[in-house]
Amino acid sequence: MIAWIFIVLLVFYLVRKFFQQRAYENTILKHGCSPPPQYQHKDPILGIDLFLSTVRSISAGNSFIHSQSLFGKYGKTFETNSFGKRVLLTMDSENIHAILVTLQRKFLVEELRIRATENFLGRGVFNTDGPSWEHSRALLRPIFARAQISNLGHLEARVDALIGLIPRDGSTVDLLPLLKRLFLDTSTEFIFGESVNTLVPGTSSFDAQNFLGAFDTALKGIGIRIVLGRLAFLQGIDTHWKKACQVVHSFIDRNIDVAIQRRNRNSQDSTKRSFVLLDELVKETQDRLYLRSQLLNIFLPARDSTAIGIANVFFLIARHPLVWDKLRAEVLNNDAPVNFETLKSMKYVRHVVNESLRLIAPSGRNLRLATEDCILPHGGGADGSQPIFVQKGTEVMFVFRSMHYDEDLWGEDADDFRPERWERSDSIPQHGYVPFSAGGRVCPAQQMVLTECAYILVRLVREFEKIENRDPEESFIEQHKLQMESRNGVKVAFTVAT
Ligand code: HEM
Ligand SMILES: *[C@@H]1O[C@H](CO)[C@@H](O)[C@H](O)[C@H]1NC(C)=O
Repeated sequence: MIAWIFIVLLVFYLVRKFFQQRAYENTILKHGCSPPPQYQHKDPILGIDLFLSTVRSISAGNSFIHSQSLFGKYGKTFETNSFGKRVLLTMDSENIHAILVTLQRKFLVEELRIRATENFLGRGVFNTDGPSWEHSRALLRPIFARAQISNLGHLEARVDALIGLIPRDGSTVDLLPLLKRLFLDTSTEFIFGESVNTLVPGTSSFDAQNFLGAFDTALKGIGIRIVLGRLAFLQGIDTHWKKACQVVHSFIDRNIDVAIQRRNRNSQDSTKRSFVLLDELVKETQDRLYLRSQLLNIFLPARDSTAIGIANVFFLIARHPLVWDKLRAEVLNNDAPVNFETLKSMKYVRHVVNESLRLIAPSGRNLRLATEDCILPHGGGADGSQPIFVQKGTEVMFVFRSMHYDEDLWGEDADDFRPERWERSDSIPQHGYVPFSAGGRVCPAQQMVLTECAYILVRLVREFEKIENRDPEESFIEQHKLQMESRNGVKVAFTVAT
């Protein structure tokens, strides 16, 4: 009896699928589009085979090689089945440009992010669309514009401390954990107005350590909520997780109270404190819940990303010692104090940072949901040159890191670390480079981050004569957390000039 019910349901399901597919194909033709190549699933119903091979590649740390081989086989845009949902994968620069810029109003994120994140983050710039998102962006724009210029000052002492922690006798150091601590210190100071002070051991308050542990627990809960999808509410019964969220919230709420009090006491006295995002937000609103949501929505994407970005620069330079020599020539040629202006004038430094973000973009891929029917310019037909129809509800995964390796855009040496390519602007493809995304949701911290990366690089290049790779593994093995970092760290040794 049960077997019969099962068979009837299965037949019903397949018949329904068949008619849906027919209707879909008719719509494609009606719009003058051609269907994109289809991934050849072994499991055509749920697509578990691709899910498993993707999970395997992520745990092996070679998910980009996996993506690369799929694009090699199916073309720059193709369709897959993910648990019965249609998901497009693309590395095509014109499609990515359409998703991020020309069709940005149709390709959204809230439905993909809010369910997993709202009860921890609240609603803010990272997890909403529409008016709520627009309002946040408008509030943040002037703050980040000022931050890129005024935030270098308080990096100085912290970088002094970092240099103090690097051995000068040529023994091996892993730069990744040091840089993570440094940027955790600066980002908590910039966002909340209170640094966790993790770089120099013994300077962190208990409260700050507690906050960090709780934040990581809260993130793990978000990971589980993402996996649970529609059943995310089940995760809410985890009291341990709830407690962790409360610890994070009370750390932030306390800083909000301090900032509001300071503002109300004396709005002129801002001379001593460094430039703090929270202080700026408090000038616009004193709604505590709103403030906390905004801060968390910024801290989440900010967390380790700058540290990973600059660590990757050293990962690559350590494997290309001639680049270090060339950097040294440029940096030692200019003995002015390192500030916003001098950094702007150091062209090779900037090129090295850009080239690193091309080859190892810290996130590398991203997901959008098509909230209306629309058309992407490329990927259909036998040669992939026809437009493709994207039905409302389709998820599109765009792999910009693969686009950064596209030989059609970057030439035959696309795989090589060659900062010199940035000397000629005509060798940089117009829509082919988006390490900070593009369009309305471009990373608001982009200019600040580029300046900070250049600053750290210049300081270390001034300090040390040579850098040497101490990692026996030549290639980049991925470790996927919230962002993607080097699993083997960035193990190098420095030599001091004699
Ligand atoms: C190397 C460092 C960084 C890289 C490569 C980077 C990259 C990105 C990318 C690719 C996005 C787009 C995400 C999406 O479309 O879903 C993004 C968004 C964002 N980033 Fe960054 N980021 C970095 C550092 C930072 C820092 C330090 C902050 C804050 C202090 C920050 C704040 C944000 C925010 C708030 C968003 C969301 C913007 C929105 O959705 O409108 N990022 N970032
Ligand atoms: C480096 O990349 C940024 C975007 O991340 C871009 O604005 C800048 O123009 C690039 N620099 C050069 C020299 O092309």
